[in-house]
Amino acid sequence: MTPSVDNPFFARVWPVFAAHEAESVRVLRRENLAGLSGRVLEIGAGCGTNFAYYPEAVTHVLAVEPEPRLVDKAREAAANAPIPVAVTHETAEEIGDMEPFDAVVCSLVLCSVHDQVGVLRRLHALLRPGGELRYLEHIASAGARGRFQQFVDATFWPRVMGNCHTHRDTERAIIDAGFEVRTSRREWTLPAWAPLPVSELALGRAHRP
Ligand SMILES: C[S@@+](CC[C@H](N)C(=O)[O-])C[C@H]1O[C@@H](n2cnc3c(N)ncnc32)[C@H](O)[C@@H]1O
Repeated sequence: MTPSVDNPFFARVWPVFAAHEAESVRVLRRENLAGLSGRVLEIGAGCGTNFAYYPEAVTHVLAVEPEPRLVDKAREAAANAPIPVAVTHETAEEIGDMEPFDAVVCSLVLCSVHDQVGVLRRLHALLRPGGELRYLEHIASAGARGRFQQFVDATFWPRVMGNCHTHRDTERAIIDAGFEVRTSRREWTLPAWAPLPVSELALGRAHRP
């Protein structure tokens, strides 16, 4: 059974974080969406922060968001988006079979799903052959930062941050689900010394062969 998503505290703080997001993160959001076209599926849209950054060549976005408070915010953002966006209240696991998409977008979401490889396999099946997975995700860091991530993941962080797990090997899971990673790089969105477990992001493009 698909676990439901009901995070009242996270749903209250996430829109505040998103509204005050660092410019460095916005730049990466734009880059994650640059050059997309056709039909796009976005997973875990949150309050719809990405919608403003989709290029005009995107003809339709289906955005899924399972948290009941955030889905309302995403619908508000969809109404003001420069391209057509439909928002549904469901998890990635619950998306039914439909016409394959040209691209799937994941940003800051694969850290929060319960079964990462299972979700990625489902996304793989929803893409047309040759279709692209675009991702901007927190990933496991090395060394002391990685140990700090393991500590926060085992204690308070997932409980207050909507099941976010900071120490996941997300790019390994993308490959294990059958994607071919074409480009990938890591970025620090805050100074490396800042004591936050989510400063290092992976930005990449992977294809369904
Ligand atoms: C940190 S927020 C990121 C929101 C948005 N993607 C962004 O870039 O601002 C993580 C989002 O993933 C959603 N989420 C959690 N589990 C999910 C699942 N199984 N399927 C789809 N979305 C999920 C949460 O409700 C939340 O909105």
